[in-house]
Amino acid sequence: MIVKKVSDLIGNTPMLSIAVPDTSSRLLLKIEKNNPGGSIKDRMARNMVLAALKSGRLKPGGVVVESSSGNTGIGLAMAAVEFGLRFIAVVDHHAAQDKIAVMQALGAEIRYVEGTYQEDEVAVVERQRLAAELASQLPGAVFMNQSDNAANPGGYSDFVREVISQAGGSIGAYVGCVGTGGSMTGIARGLKLHNPDIVTVAVEPAGSIVFGQPGHPYYQSGTGTPKGDTVGLVLDYSCIDMGLQVTDSQAFETARYMARNAALLVGGSTGGVIYKALELIHEGVIGGNVVVPVADGGEKYLHTVFSEDWLDERNLLAPDIWDQLDQWLGKGHLHEHHSIPLQLSVA
Ligand SMILES: Cc1ncc(COP(=O)(O)O)c(C=O)c1O
Repeated sequence: MIVKKVSDLIGNTPMLSIAVPDTSSRLLLKIEKNNPGGSIKDRMARNMVLAALKSGRLKPGGVVVESSSGNTGIGLAMAAVEFGLRFIAVVDHHAAQDKIAVMQALGAEIRYVEGTYQEDEVAVVERQRLAAELASQLPGAVFMNQSDNAANPGGYSDFVREVISQAGGSIGAYVGCVGTGGSMTGIARGLKLHNPDIVTVAVEPAGSIVFGQPGHPYYQSGTGTPKGDTVGLVLDYSCIDMGLQVTDSQAFETARYMARNAALLVGGSTGGVIYKALELIHEGVIGGNVVVPVADGGEKYLHTVFSEDWLDERNLLAPDIWDQLDQWLGKGHLHEHHSIPLQLSVA
């Protein structure tokens, strides 16, 4: 396929199947990190800009302002280049440095929120406030406000179409992460329209307040709603069957495990979703084709999730989780599955 602009490379991402031994289930990993900005968020970022332009709220040559931990910002930075817009990203020190560097490389202007925050504390409330203030002060500026913007969940209709087609119409469950809730809502609604029996599961970091649990700081980046913030208006609880929590150690150790055992580099939030999906499959709660989005890639977390020193300094290493994953995936199963056929071995 030859395309004429980078946004035409968004979507039509591949799917990787991983059989779960001793069950009739398989994980169908939708490789969203293959989008040009490296995450699932490219879809909704483009959609929010298109919707704002279409409604006339945003004019050609205008300014897009958004509070983003990185992935939405990267998607918006790409859209801004294509549509000739200026983009200002409001970030905090929680955001992965490499994501900020990508936004800057794409021409985004970066504004850090002021104030002192613990390393594992997200300054999301202050980010939102500053983004709204900047947008109200700058002529032609629009605050995208992904948490309350209907074009966020609205950006996932192609994703739904693609997975239904890739899974041959047969999906037992969808397990995804929840931050703004945009991807979960857009995807869960679409899948339930196709088949109301598809079980939809949202996974948030332990410490996030989406499902009413007590809030505390966490290290998973880009996902969950931290204490002090309010859950986004885009999140529609009625299309979510189950809301679960995953710890930082479970999420990060699973990401590391997938790299070593399946050669797949996934980000921390995806590690958490894979962990909970496997747990639910082995508990018999979900089964069949279990679709899990790889929201972004481990390439964005080489200095955190994939640094043993970084994990150790924060007491996040937990080797027992590898034993659990060995049990769920069958020790060596992924290697066997991908072993080189004998006839191809070099003489
Ligand atoms: C890596 C990652 N995981 C999960 C999420 C949460 O997705 P959503 O905001 O659609 O709930 C995000 C959002 O930025 C993200 O970047």
